[in-house]
Amino acid sequence: MDSKKNDKNKNQKSKSESQRKPKSGIPRQARFNEKYEGKLKEFFFEELKDVYFAEHEALKAMKKMEAAATSDALKESITKHQSETEEQINRLEEIFALLEKKPSKKKCEGILGIIKDGEGVIEDTQEDTMVRDAAIIIANQKLEHYEITSYGSLAELARTLGLDEAAELLETTLNEEKKTDISLTLLAEASVNEEAATE
Ligand SMILES: [Fe+2]
Ligand SMILES: [Fe+2]
Repeated sequence: MDSKKNDKNKNQKSKSESQRKPKSGIPRQARFNEKYEGKLKEFFFEELKDVYFAEHEALKAMKKMEAAATSDALKESITKHQSETEEQINRLEEIFALLEKKPSKKKCEGILGIIKDGEGVIEDTQEDTMVRDAAIIIANQKLEHYEITSYGSLAELARTLGLDEAAELLETTLNEEKKTDISLTLLAEASVNEEAATE
Protein backbone atom coordinates (compact mmCIF):
# COMPACT_ATOMS: atom_id res chain seq x y z
CA MET A 1 0.00 0.00 0.00
CA ASP A 2 2.85 2.28 0.94
CA SER A 3 4.59 1.57 -2.31
CA LYS A 4 1.41 2.42 -4.25
CA LYS A 5 1.16 5.64 -2.30
CA ASN A 6 4.78 6.44 -3.18
CA ASP A 7 4.10 5.75 -6.86
CA LYS A 8 1.12 8.08 -6.69
CA ASN A 9 3.24 10.83 -5.10
CA LYS A 10 5.93 10.26 -7.70
CA ASN A 11 3.39 10.62 -10.51
CA GLN A 12 2.01 13.81 -9.01
CA LYS A 13 5.50 15.19 -8.63
CA SER A 14 6.51 14.41 -12.19
CA LYS A 15 3.27 15.93 -13.50
CA SER A 16 3.81 19.18 -11.62
CA GLU A 17 7.43 19.27 -12.79
CA SER A 18 6.36 18.85 -16.39
CA GLN A 19 3.81 21.65 -15.93
CA ARG A 20 6.63 23.94 -14.85
CA LYS A 21 8.70 23.22 -17.95
CA PRO A 22 9.41 26.37 -19.98
CA LYS A 23 7.68 26.71 -23.31
CA SER A 24 10.21 26.70 -26.08
CA GLY A 25 10.85 29.91 -27.94
CA ILE A 26 9.39 32.25 -25.34
CA PRO A 27 11.94 34.60 -23.72
CA ARG A 28 12.56 33.77 -20.07
CA GLN A 29 11.39 37.17 -18.77
CA ALA A 30 8.15 36.88 -20.74
CA ARG A 31 7.29 33.42 -19.50
CA PHE A 32 4.42 33.02 -17.13
CA ASN A 33 4.96 31.52 -13.78
CA GLU A 34 3.17 28.41 -15.02
CA LYS A 35 1.83 27.63 -11.59
CA TYR A 36 -0.63 30.46 -12.25
CA GLU A 37 -1.48 29.71 -15.85
CA GLY A 38 -5.15 29.26 -16.47
CA LYS A 39 -8.06 31.44 -15.45
CA LEU A 40 -5.91 34.21 -13.97
CA LYS A 41 -3.83 34.41 -17.15
CA GLU A 42 -6.99 34.64 -19.25
CA PHE A 43 -8.31 37.36 -16.97
CA PHE A 44 -5.03 39.28 -17.27
CA PHE A 45 -5.35 39.27 -21.07
CA GLU A 46 -8.94 40.44 -20.90
CA GLU A 47 -7.95 43.35 -18.63
CA LEU A 48 -5.04 44.20 -20.91
CA LYS A 49 -7.42 44.42 -23.89
CA ASP A 50 -9.81 46.51 -21.79
CA VAL A 51 -7.16 49.11 -20.90
CA TYR A 52 -5.85 49.10 -24.51
CA PHE A 53 -9.37 50.06 -25.62
CA ALA A 54 -9.64 52.61 -22.78
CA GLU A 55 -6.39 54.37 -23.76
CA HIS A 56 -7.53 54.83 -27.37
CA GLU A 57 -10.85 56.24 -26.19
CA ALA A 58 -9.10 58.45 -23.61
CA LEU A 59 -6.90 59.88 -26.35
CA LYS A 60 -9.95 60.90 -28.40
CA ALA A 61 -11.66 62.32 -25.30
CA MET A 62 -8.59 64.37 -24.36
CA LYS A 63 -8.51 65.94 -27.84
CA LYS A 64 -12.09 67.14 -27.29
CA MET A 65 -11.30 68.36 -23.76
CA GLU A 66 -8.21 70.24 -24.94
CA ALA A 67 -10.21 71.94 -27.70
CA ALA A 68 -12.98 72.89 -25.26
CA ALA A 69 -10.72 74.14 -22.43
CA THR A 70 -10.54 77.86 -21.70
CA SER A 71 -7.15 78.41 -20.05
CA ASP A 72 -3.77 77.83 -21.63
CA ALA A 73 -2.62 76.06 -18.46
CA LEU A 74 -5.31 73.38 -18.77
CA LYS A 75 -4.78 73.06 -22.54
CA GLU A 76 -1.04 72.52 -21.94
CA SER A 77 -1.67 69.96 -19.22
CA ILE A 78 -3.98 67.96 -21.49
CA THR A 79 -1.59 68.21 -24.45
CA LYS A 80 1.27 66.88 -22.31
CA HIS A 81 -0.77 63.90 -21.18
CA GLN A 82 -1.89 63.20 -24.76
CA SER A 83 1.72 62.52 -25.77
CA GLU A 84 2.23 60.42 -22.63
CA THR A 85 -0.89 58.46 -23.56
CA GLU A 86 0.53 57.70 -27.01
CA GLU A 87 3.61 56.31 -25.26
CA GLN A 88 1.39 54.32 -22.88
CA ILE A 89 -0.31 52.71 -25.89
CA ASN A 90 3.16 51.75 -27.18
CA ARG A 91 3.95 50.19 -23.78
CA LEU A 92 0.78 48.11 -23.92
CA GLU A 93 1.77 46.94 -27.40
CA GLU A 94 5.17 45.97 -25.97
CA ILE A 95 3.40 43.85 -23.36
CA PHE A 96 1.26 42.14 -26.02
CA ALA A 97 4.50 41.45 -27.96
CA LEU A 98 6.23 40.08 -24.86
CA LEU A 99 3.36 37.67 -24.48
CA GLU A 100 3.38 36.85 -28.19
CA LYS A 101 -0.14 38.19 -28.60
CA LYS A 102 -1.54 40.60 -31.16
CA PRO A 103 -2.71 43.90 -29.61
CA SER A 104 -6.48 43.86 -29.44
CA LYS A 105 -9.21 45.93 -27.85
CA LYS A 106 -12.13 44.88 -25.70
CA LYS A 107 -15.01 47.33 -25.58
CA CYS A 108 -15.40 48.70 -22.08
CA GLU A 109 -18.71 50.30 -21.11
CA GLY A 110 -17.14 51.74 -17.94
CA ILE A 111 -14.70 54.04 -19.72
CA LEU A 112 -17.33 54.94 -22.34
CA GLY A 113 -19.66 56.04 -19.53
CA ILE A 114 -16.97 58.21 -17.95
CA ILE A 115 -16.18 59.79 -21.33
CA LYS A 116 -19.88 60.39 -22.06
CA ASP A 117 -20.21 62.18 -18.72
CA GLY A 118 -17.19 64.30 -19.64
CA GLU A 119 -18.78 65.28 -22.95
CA GLY A 120 -21.90 66.17 -21.00
CA VAL A 121 -20.10 68.66 -18.76
CA ILE A 122 -18.62 70.36 -21.82
CA GLU A 123 -22.12 70.74 -23.27
CA ASP A 124 -23.51 71.97 -19.95
CA THR A 125 -20.90 74.70 -19.40
CA GLN A 126 -20.29 77.90 -21.31
CA GLU A 127 -17.41 78.36 -23.71
CA ASP A 128 -14.52 80.60 -22.51
CA THR A 129 -15.39 80.24 -18.83
CA MET A 130 -13.35 78.91 -15.95
CA VAL A 131 -16.38 76.97 -14.76
CA ARG A 132 -15.90 74.89 -17.88
CA ASP A 133 -12.22 74.35 -16.98
CA ALA A 134 -13.18 73.31 -13.45
CA ALA A 135 -15.66 70.83 -14.94
CA ILE A 136 -13.12 69.49 -17.48
CA ILE A 137 -10.56 68.95 -14.72
CA ILE A 138 -13.05 66.82 -12.79
CA ALA A 139 -14.00 64.86 -15.94
CA ASN A 140 -10.34 64.33 -16.75
CA GLN A 141 -9.59 63.16 -13.21
CA LYS A 142 -12.40 60.59 -13.40
CA LEU A 143 -10.64 59.21 -16.47
CA GLU A 144 -7.27 59.15 -14.67
CA HIS A 145 -8.78 57.36 -11.68
CA TYR A 146 -10.16 54.64 -13.95
CA GLU A 147 -6.69 54.23 -15.43
CA ILE A 148 -4.98 54.26 -12.02
CA THR A 149 -7.24 51.42 -10.88
CA SER A 150 -6.67 49.45 -14.09
CA TYR A 151 -2.89 49.82 -14.15
CA GLY A 152 -2.50 49.22 -10.42
CA SER A 153 -4.45 45.96 -10.68
CA LEU A 154 -2.72 44.87 -13.89
CA ALA A 155 0.74 45.52 -12.43
CA GLU A 156 -0.13 43.38 -9.39
CA LEU A 157 -1.47 40.59 -11.60
CA ALA A 158 1.65 40.72 -13.77
CA ARG A 159 3.86 40.33 -10.67
CA THR A 160 1.79 37.36 -9.50
CA LEU A 161 2.08 35.77 -12.93
CA GLY A 162 5.86 36.21 -12.93
CA LEU A 163 5.75 38.81 -15.71
CA ASP A 164 8.23 41.23 -14.19
CA GLU A 165 9.05 43.09 -17.40
CA ALA A 166 5.36 43.65 -18.10
CA ALA A 167 4.84 44.72 -14.48
CA GLU A 168 7.57 47.36 -14.81
CA LEU A 169 6.00 48.77 -17.98
CA LEU A 170 2.60 48.87 -16.27
CA GLU A 171 4.08 50.56 -13.18
CA THR A 172 5.74 53.24 -15.35
CA THR A 173 2.35 54.07 -16.84
CA LEU A 174 0.67 53.89 -13.43
CA ASN A 175 3.08 56.54 -12.12
CA GLU A 176 2.32 58.81 -15.09
CA GLU A 177 -1.41 58.49 -14.43
CA LYS A 178 -0.91 59.33 -10.74
CA LYS A 179 1.25 62.36 -11.57
CA THR A 180 -1.35 63.57 -14.06
CA ASP A 181 -4.08 63.26 -11.45
CA ILE A 182 -2.00 65.24 -8.92
CA SER A 183 -1.12 67.95 -11.44
CA LEU A 184 -4.82 68.39 -12.28
CA THR A 185 -5.62 68.77 -8.57
CA LEU A 186 -2.85 71.37 -8.23
CA LEU A 187 -4.14 73.27 -11.24
CA ALA A 188 -7.66 73.36 -9.79
CA GLU A 189 -6.37 74.48 -6.39
CA ALA A 190 -3.89 77.05 -7.70
CA SER A 191 -6.20 79.01 -9.96
CA VAL A 192 -9.05 77.39 -11.84
CA ASN A 193 -11.56 76.81 -9.02
CA GLU A 194 -11.13 80.28 -7.53
CA GLU A 195 -11.41 81.99 -10.89
CA ALA A 196 -14.50 79.90 -11.61
CA ALA A 197 -16.00 81.01 -8.30
CA THR A 198 -15.82 84.69 -9.33
CA GLU A 199 -17.66 84.25 -12.63
FE1 LIG B 1 -3.38 56.43 -19.87
FE1 LIG C 1 -4.16 59.02 -18.25
